[in-house]
Amino acid sequence: GHGVPPSLSAKVTGSFAYLTIRDRMPTILTKAIDTIHRNKNKFFEEYGEEGINAEKQAISLLSKLRNEVQTDKPLLELMDGLSDTESWNQYMQRQQSQLGDQELVSWFKSPWLYVECYMYRRIQEAIWLNPPINNFDVFNEGKTQSFFESQQAVMALCTYLGDIQKSMEKLSENQMSEYFNKLLQVSLWGNKCDLSISAGQENSQKASPIDSLNSLQSFILVNDSNMVWLTLNSSRRLQGSRKKTADRVDIVLDNAGFELVTDLVLADFLVSSGLARHIHFHGKCFPWFVSDVTANDFQWTIRQTMAANHKWMSKSGYQWQSYLSEGIWSYHDHPFWTQPHEFCDMAADAPDLYATLQEADLVLFKGDLNYRKLTGDRDWGHTVDFCTALRGFEPAPLCSLRTLKANVQVGLQPGQGEKLSTQDPSWMTNGKYAVIQFHGPKLE
Ligand code: F6P
Ligand code: MG
Repeated sequence: GHGVPPSLSAKVTGSFAYLTIRDRMPTILTKAIDTIHRNKNKFFEEYGEEGINAEKQAISLLSKLRNEVQTDKPLLELMDGLSDTESWNQYMQRQQSQLGDQELVSWFKSPWLYVECYMYRRIQEAIWLNPPINNFDVFNEGKTQSFFESQQAVMALCTYLGDIQKSMEKLSENQMSEYFNKLLQVSLWGNKCDLSISAGQENSQKASPIDSLNSLQSFILVNDSNMVWLTLNSSRRLQGSRKKTADRVDIVLDNAGFELVTDLVLADFLVSSGLARHIHFHGKCFPWFVSDVTANDFQWTIRQTMAANHKWMSKSGYQWQSYLSEGIWSYHDHPFWTQPHEFCDMAADAPDLYATLQEADLVLFKGDLNYRKLTGDRDWGHTVDFCTALRGFEPAPLCSLRTLKANVQVGLQPGQGEKLSTQDPSWMTNGKYAVIQFHGPKLE
């Protein structure tokens, strides 16, 4: 029969998973420790001695964690007794029972996806166990900095959106689809700007996001944007005959900073062009993979955009705020997004979330981590169908917008992967390539 391939893991010495766990994860932990330490005075001013004690405790938990990673210790149960603690501990027991009693679940031996997610949950445990600093986001500085460093690009993009909107009424179907494709690609390439691949190094958008699209075109390995366009239009046409009250596009967000702005601009275009009536954004419940969007980042970004000293940027910000207050846009989070599960487990493990996604006409999944979860972060051949790799995860027509940063890529043409491997051996992990990969009913 057709077995499901094994999960990627650091068992393979020299693999990207291996290098991530050996080098990148300890670096991320060191940065988190430095950040907490640098905020020592602030904690003292706010909370006095108690703040300093919490700072010390959190740092000692994170140093211990770093040591566990570096010496390939068994994973430990979570102890913070929060609402998701039990499910993490159960997940670990399941992993353990699959391994048998010869070996313990550990950093280099367990699935990469699982241990990497687990590290971010342990970082959060170190913070949550230490009031009064238990609301501190160790990655916040990096996220806000990358937003500010992308200011020029954000202004250019908001101006571009403003220009489109001025002429929206007069646009032909062709012009409309052209703008749609451009903004979809801007949102795609926005995914280059994540802070976990660079282990928190500066990684912002400097060039004009529109002007660079042409030269990036040939790096898109799979481009199903036409299917996305047809999906949006068919649900619009079917509108009258459906029971639904609204066309809805869901965007499963990835990173804060420039990428989030590109997602908001795309969402604004979808709504202002009438391609969609509602947008649901999905973010993370706690700081995750360095730069992922939390509710706080989402609100902060819109407030900053409103407050900008630039006509089109602040106009966009006010527009976004009013979409939110009118309920045209809404922000949601769910604990499932910060768990280690492959998405094919969602229907069983988070049926409420699965049901929510089923209400959408289209779900856009941003970024590399979402792609890893869509495909289970498994060692699939490059020509395997996207649909096969999804293993039954199909709540609605869906599309992944992802720049490649991990060793999994399906849905390529025969020979395409081999050719890339000779041209550019690190094509799967260097973030230069991307896919717009769709799964859903084929429309014409
Ligand atoms: O290994 C690269 C990496 O750090 C992965 O751990 C993760 O999949 C990805 O980067 C995060 O990227 P993104 O923000 O696109 O999900
Ligand atoms: Mg991310």
